[in-house]
Amino acid sequence: MKIHQPAKAISTSLSPNTQRDDILLALKLISEPHKWKAGKAIQRLEKEFKDYLGVKFAISFNSGRAALMAILEALGTRAGDEILLQAFTCNSAVIPILEKRALPVFVEVEETLNLDPEDLKRKITSHSRIVMVQHSFGWPAKIDKILKTAKKYNLFLIEDCAHSLGAKYKQRYCGTFGEAAFFSFGRDKIISSVFGGMALTNDEKLAKKIKEFQEKLSFPSNIWIFQQLLHPILTNYLVLPAYGKNKELGRIILGAFHKLAILSKAVSIQEKRGSPSHYFPKKLPNTLALLALNQLGKLEQFNNHRKEIASFYQKELKRSSFILPLTKKNKNIEPIFMRYPILTDLDTDKVLQKARKKKIYLNDGWRKSPIVPPDTDLEKMKYIMGSCPRAEKVAKSIINLPTHINISQADAQKITYFLLKRLKP
Ligand SMILES: Cc1ncc(COP(=O)(O)O)c(C=O)c1O
Repeated sequence: MKIHQPAKAISTSLSPNTQRDDILLALKLISEPHKWKAGKAIQRLEKEFKDYLGVKFAISFNSGRAALMAILEALGTRAGDEILLQAFTCNSAVIPILEKRALPVFVEVEETLNLDPEDLKRKITSHSRIVMVQHSFGWPAKIDKILKTAKKYNLFLIEDCAHSLGAKYKQRYCGTFGEAAFFSFGRDKIISSVFGGMALTNDEKLAKKIKEFQEKLSFPSNIWIFQQLLHPILTNYLVLPAYGKNKELGRIILGAFHKLAILSKAVSIQEKRGSPSHYFPKKLPNTLALLALNQLGKLEQFNNHRKEIASFYQKELKRSSFILPLTKKNKNIEPIFMRYPILTDLDTDKVLQKARKKKIYLNDGWRKSPIVPPDTDLEKMKYIMGSCPRAEKVAKSIINLPTHINISQADAQKITYFLLKRLKP
């Protein structure tokens, strides 16, 4: 089938990894509802995933947060346990902790926007049980130091690899250092099936418990699955082209799709208010495993592209007033740049507004609040304002530049031209 892809807006979000073959696959799968729930693609994805990362066990779920729920259960998390994780994280990494009635303890970020090993030591108490380390935007955290502290205080280590599929630390993939790790195939992650996730471990006993957790779950409903299959098609054929014409038109179309529940939202209103959503945890449906497998086959191409675009941004912006937190060369790490973050003293609301006028949409939700999206209820997340000032400052001053496969060199140039030439007072 020949399909013509319309001109789209430059955007960080809204199914950014989708290519023509992903759309054709989603269209085909819509017409094959017998393949939607159970099927062989689920085990195939689990096998390809564990083979790629070189671990013993990979167990799939319908999201990264569902995979984290399974890991917390398997580790025997109890009410009152303290789980240390960095501030400047997503509320979907916090909800599973709250759901267990455990206590999230937020740790400061260091200069690469990852968990600060020194602040970690300060935050440990006799109730600490788990440290969760996020490799923010695909830049590996200071894993040696964190592991050393985890061992010293007898803490389990979970790696939050929602941003870091393919990134390496000392030539080992992120996700292979702790007791367990989880990955996300969310709509704007490294690879995407709109929703999806994977739990990983080398520990046989833990794997058995995670598997038992998975087996007790049901599949999501047909309506939910249908909604996810529509996502890459409608965002790429209607929403992004509409944004490319006029931001109001894009906003109206996207708003209508959300209101009519034709498209799903990445996080629900309940989750922003601290309660789990009934969509999670569930099994990963076969049809989303097929979308994820198609994307996994393009992982190296995607990540090479991300690195090229990131190095272009770095070259163009290094002599500007923007701070580039992910630039320091370090032979131990191989980042994959899910985004290219820059920090600025300018009012980022105004910068994004000016960019929108040029049809450049840079708001990916990772901004303004130490727990994103910005309208998350921090009190419900047990975050005390002022407790991680560096993370709060990062949240206020960050703009994430897109690096995904649909950003061409010309798009990246348009973005840097805007940042360097159009923001002068
Ligand atoms: C850092 C981080 N952790 C965890 C998650 C949860 O992943 P998912 O959306 O697949 O549940 C996300 C994504 O939203 C994330 O960005």
